[in-house]
Amino acid sequence: MIEPDQIIYLDNNATTQLDPAVVEEMVPYLSRYYGNPSSGYTFGAQVRQAVELARERVAALIGCTAGEIIFTSGGTESNNTAVNSALQLAPDRRHVVTTAVEHSAVLRHCEQLRQRGYDVTFVGVEESGELRLDELESAIRPDTALLSVMWANNETGVLFPLERVAELAHRRGVLFHTDAVQTAGKLPIGVRNLRVNSLSLSAHKIHGPKGVGALFVHRTTPFRPLLFGGGQENNRRAGTENVASIVGFGKAAERALAALADEIGRVRLLRDKFETAMRDSVDGMFVNGGSASRLPNTSSLSFRGIESGAALILLDQDNVCCSAGSACRTGSHEASHVLRAMKIDNERLRGSLRFSFGRFNTESDVDRSVPVIRRVVERLRALSAGGAPPVAA
Ligand SMILES: Cc1ncc(COP(=O)(O)O)c(C=O)c1O
Repeated sequence: MIEPDQIIYLDNNATTQLDPAVVEEMVPYLSRYYGNPSSGYTFGAQVRQAVELARERVAALIGCTAGEIIFTSGGTESNNTAVNSALQLAPDRRHVVTTAVEHSAVLRHCEQLRQRGYDVTFVGVEESGELRLDELESAIRPDTALLSVMWANNETGVLFPLERVAELAHRRGVLFHTDAVQTAGKLPIGVRNLRVNSLSLSAHKIHGPKGVGALFVHRTTPFRPLLFGGGQENNRRAGTENVASIVGFGKAAERALAALADEIGRVRLLRDKFETAMRDSVDGMFVNGGSASRLPNTSSLSFRGIESGAALILLDQDNVCCSAGSACRTGSHEASHVLRAMKIDNERLRGSLRFSFGRFNTESDVDRSVPVIRRVVERLRALSAGGAPPVAA
């Protein structure tokens, strides 16, 4: 096993380190307090109280009431639930509008819907990664059930103008869902000012546990569940609650809110220092989405003359954790759909790496990672110019 103190973790958009305060809060609900929150006796009721405290804490993170929070198994389920709900509510509306750069938790669901006879429009983005709002507006039809537009892109960090999308959805009488999985804990969220009908969150992106998330549903928005069974979550999401994880999510939300004002600036400084140092030490480097309004923690870089798959192998040997885009899994180096939608050239597409910073990163991570990345890029460029092959991991 590789130990955390051996690595430089620059992949906080993939997942984040559990905050020790979160673990501490969870442990009693994994050991001593095992009662079912739906049980009537005190041993169950006290667990229910812990779940309700977590609900209040998650609600506070986004500025809604506790009753508007439904706990789910994560961002994926929240997104699926929101899209499903809109379609169930209006069976005669068989069209969904989304964007070409959503996370697969929306994209794949929409592809499935197409196979089941629904119509889906995937709105494009500019080369900067910014949303084509005019295309979005003209995509809306009388039979559109839902607009599902992410807030912050997980690969580039580019932010979409949610207020304007919400205004558009409102004006055209269409429900509006947003995937805010990457926004939470990185920027302030005030759902009251946003006029969204629903919004997805995931605990493991904010130093909470994996496998738990939430869907905010505005109190005046009608809703249809995805899962049926027991009456948990006020009949909106069946299944005995994942209590310890929900408790951890609540603590993570509380900590994220308390740290937010300081962390935005601190993490932005780290990210900017990293980009400046990379630019100073490597030629032929581009910041994807760099001209757009972006999350403060995300750096999507493209290097001319390298293959990101090979770079990941070499970076892994040096214990630097980063990513090559969500579509790049072990054994599959398919180019990122986000960067493809931005229509950047093939060389930049092939040589793209995503670095994402978080609460537990320090300046030392920047200082230590930049020379490693520079060496890897130089080595791969020398190789493609006819040098010796890299040693396999
Ligand atoms: C933008 C976005 N939406 C949804 C998800 C899925 O969240 P989860 O892993 O909790 O299912 C992710 C995770 O990478 C994400 O980045």
